Amino acid sequence: MVDRVAGSRSRPSPVSPVSAVEVAAVRQPTVRAHLLPPRVFHDPTVLAYEREAWFGGGWVCVGREEDAPARGAYFLAEVAGESVIVVRGDDGQLRGFYNLCRHRGARLVEASEPCGRLVRFQCPYHAWVYDLEGRLRPPRHTEALEDFDPAEWGLVPICLAKWQGFVFVDLSAEAPALSAFLGDLPPLLERFDLGGLRRARRITYDVGANWKAIVENYEECYHCPGVHPQLNRITPYDLGAYLEGEGPWLGSYMEVVGDFETLSLDGATHGRPPIGGMRDEDLKRVYYLVVWPNLLISLHPDYLMTHWVWPIDSGRTRVVCEWFFDPATMGRPGFDPEDAIGFWDLTNRQDWHVCELQQAGTRSRAYTPGRYSAIEGSVHGFDLMVADRYANDGVTTVVERVAKQTITRPTATRTARRREAGAVTGQ
Ligand code: FES
Ligand SMILES: [Fe+2]
Repeated sequence: MVDRVAGSRSRPSPVSPVSAVEVAAVRQPTVRAHLLPPRVFHDPTVLAYEREAWFGGGWVCVGREEDAPARGAYFLAEVAGESVIVVRGDDGQLRGFYNLCRHRGARLVEASEPCGRLVRFQCPYHAWVYDLEGRLRPPRHTEALEDFDPAEWGLVPICLAKWQGFVFVDLSAEAPALSAFLGDLPPLLERFDLGGLRRARRITYDVGANWKAIVENYEECYHCPGVHPQLNRITPYDLGAYLEGEGPWLGSYMEVVGDFETLSLDGATHGRPPIGGMRDEDLKRVYYLVVWPNLLISLHPDYLMTHWVWPIDSGRTRVVCEWFFDPATMGRPGFDPEDAIGFWDLTNRQDWHVCELQQAGTRSRAYTPGRYSAIEGSVHGFDLMVADRYANDGVTTVVERVAKQTITRPTATRTARRREAGAVTGQ
C-alpha cells in the first residue's frame, strides 16, 4: 500500500510561537473549551511555524497518482515554501525531488509548466541534465574538476508514499511510514477502490481566510441550515455519526434522507452506479474525512470529492477541489457530472463567504475566543490537533467530544440527552 522511496535533508526543529498557556483553554473538554486564540488566524509568524513544522515536518498529500500516469509524467507541488517535483521514472516508480538544479541552484522545472511529460530534466540555465530517476549526466566542462563525481550530484530526493491513489511527501524524511502515520484510516477505507477513480474536474478557489478556518468550517454542519439550504434538505445537519479510530484524522458521515440519492443539484445520481466497495448502508451516507493537515475527503455513494487546503498567507488560502468518478461510469455515453460539480461549487462558495466573514471579524480587537456549540465537537477535535502541535509538549489531548454516539434527530425522549450531545461534521 505504501512505500518509502528516498530520504532528504532534515532541518532544526522550529520553535513554536504559540505557547501551551495560550492554547490551554482549547485543551479542555468541549463543554468547557474555548476556540483557538484569534492570533493564530492572523499572525504571519504563526503561519511560518505551521509551514515549517507541520507542512514541512511530516507527511502531506500533494496530489494523485493519476497526475503522473506514465513514464516521464510529472507534476509540481508547493509544500512549506518548497517546489516539489513528483515524477514517474522509466521504471514506473513515482519519485519526489526538490525542484532545483545542483549547479547554481536554478529552478529546474518552471512554474509555468506545472505538469507535463519529459524524457529527462534539463536545467534552463546551463543545461545540466538529470534523468527521470534524478541522476546527473556528466556535465560539459566538468571533466577536469577535482573531487567531483556526477553520481553524487543528482537531484535531491524527497520521501514519497502512496495510499488509495493519493500521493504524499515528507520533506523532513523523519516521519514514520505513511501507513503508521495514517493509523486506523487505511483499514477503515480499504473496501473502497479510491485509487481506481479518475478526476472529472478541478476547480481552484482563492479564499480570503486562514487555512484553519476553512478546515474548521468543513468539520461542522452547525452552519448548514442557514448557509446551505440546498445541502441541508438532502443531508440534514443533525443526522449522522462520528467515525472512530486512531490517527491524525477525523471522520464522520451524514445521512442522505428520503428519496435523495447523493449530494447533487437535485439529489439524484442520474444513473451513476455506486462506486466499488459501497455497502448497503453506505448508499445513504456521505463520509467526510480530514487527513492532517490539509486533505479533505468527501465520499459520496457515486463519487469522491477532495479539497486540498493550501495556505498562501495568514489570511489567504488556495483551495483545490476535485471530483472523481469510476472510469467505467465516465466512459458511458452522456456521462455528465455537472449536477455534482455544480452542487459543490455552490456549496463551496457559500462556505468561503462565511469563512471570509470569520477572518474579518476575528481580526477585531473586540473578538475573544468563542465557545463550541454542542454540535461542534469535531471542530474542537481539529483545534485540539492544532493546539497540541503548538504546545509541542508531548501531550496528545484525548478528543473529549461530549458525545460520540450516533447523532440522531432529537425526539421527545432523546431531547434532554441531546442537549449535552456532541456534533456531527459536514459542510
Ligand atoms: S544552474 Fe542549472 S545548469 Fe547551471
Ligand atoms: Fe459548509
